[in-house]
This record gives sequence, structure tokens and C-alpha cells, in this order.
Amino acid sequence: MKNVMRLDKMLAMLGEGTRSEIKTAVRAGRVFVNGVPVRDAGMQVNASGDDVRFDGRKLSYKEVRHVMLNKPQGVLTAARDRKQKTVMDLLPPLYAAMGCMPAGRLDKDTEGLLIITSDGQLAHRIISPKKDVSKIYYARVDGPLSESDVRAFAQGLHIEDADGMFDARPAWLTILSSAEEESTARVRVTEGRYHQVKRMFLSRGVRVTFLKREQIGALPLDPALKAGQWRELTDEEAVLLEQEMEE
Ligand code: URA
Repeated sequence: MKNVMRLDKMLAMLGEGTRSEIKTAVRAGRVFVNGVPVRDAGMQVNASGDDVRFDGRKLSYKEVRHVMLNKPQGVLTAARDRKQKTVMDLLPPLYAAMGCMPAGRLDKDTEGLLIITSDGQLAHRIISPKKDVSKIYYARVDGPLSESDVRAFAQGLHIEDADGMFDARPAWLTILSSAEEESTARVRVTEGRYHQVKRMFLSRGVRVTFLKREQIGALPLDPALKAGQWRELTDEEAVLLEQEMEE
């Protein structure tokens, strides 16, 4: 595919520096296009086809980008917001410029795995309830949990609260610890309604005090990523995610 743009724009999008830093580097002969040193930062290049090297490093301009973010608390899942910090503010501008969007939504106070992708169809499939993509969450709640909660989750909870009414699909609840004051659990759901997990627990009489998404389909959150950190998916992970969404 052709992706013709100015050389300095391409380098800036890839995070190689500001336009003026790039201009200086180009003038100094540090940038080669198709084996030839160039002097004009404004020259047109095909970002997807030309061999562009900066200090000998081949730059890769991929059409499709998938990012795995460990979303921190306190950040909105939105493309942009006039007042509050969004997940897109945690990434270099390249990703917004390439049309990347969050695939689905985590509440402001929820942490964990969020996929941000330039592939709108993939994003749609991750979110679509028809696709049955499972999501695994770790939750801390402010009361005890018991086997009757496990059974109720498995049967499909009837939710009726200030936000509306729905019958949740069967979900898998694994109790990790239970005590009067606080319990911890892992829950697997296949839908993503507004405040889904919090409302499911609330319908059983306990309030979620901490929520973290650990997995989407077969893709787990990389445990090396601290809250607020991100990386691009490896090719294997991208294939895993795409294949699963096709099924
Ligand atoms: N369920 C919730 O209640 N909140 C989230 O952020 C995700 C799932």
C-alpha cells in the first residue's frame, strides 16, 4: 500500500524527534532513503515502501498497530477528552495519528488490559457481544463470597438497578479468598455492559473496591507491564487475537 508523505512527517510520527531536530539530522546526512543520503527533510517518501534509515537503523512504518496497555486508574478510556487525561494521552502521538482507538472501555477506576488498535474491525469484534469473547477480571469486594454466589453467576444473574435491567449471561466466578470485611475473586464474562462486573457483584450484595482486567480471549496482560505502561503486540499475539475474533 502507498503511504506517501513528507520525510520529516514520517520520522516525527515514528517518534524520532521534533520536526526541527529531524531537519537538523537530515541536513547532517544521518538519514538515507533507498540507500541514498538525503538533504531535504520535506522530500516525499512512501512510508510503507521506501527503505528509510536513520543513523543506519531501518525504520518500520506498519499500517496496522495493536497496542497492549496496562490501563492505570484515574484515566478515561476515550479517544480524547477536553478536561481529563485519556488512555491515548499515554501513547506517543503516532498512534492517534494512525487512527488507533481503544477496543472497548474500562471504567476510570478500573485497571488492566486494554487493546488500542488502528484496526477498526478488530476493535469492533473484541467489543461485539455476538462474538462471545471472554474477559477475565480480578476483583476485590467489600464482603464475603460463597458457593451460592458461584452458582448464581453460573446461572446468569438478573440485574435490576438504577442503571437499568438486564439478564447477564452465565459467568464463571472463582473465589480466591473470602472474609467478612473483604474477598477476592476472579470472574470470566462474555459481555461488556455498562459497569457489568460491578453490577453483577452488587446484585449479590457486595461492592467492588478494586477491579483489574487480566485477559481478553486467549490474550493475557503481560505481567511485566506496570500500570500505565504499554507495548505493541508481538506478531504472534496479534495473530492469536485476530484468529480468535474470526471464529
Ligand atoms: N466491568 C465493570 O464494572 N467495569 C469495568 O471497567 C469493566 C467491567
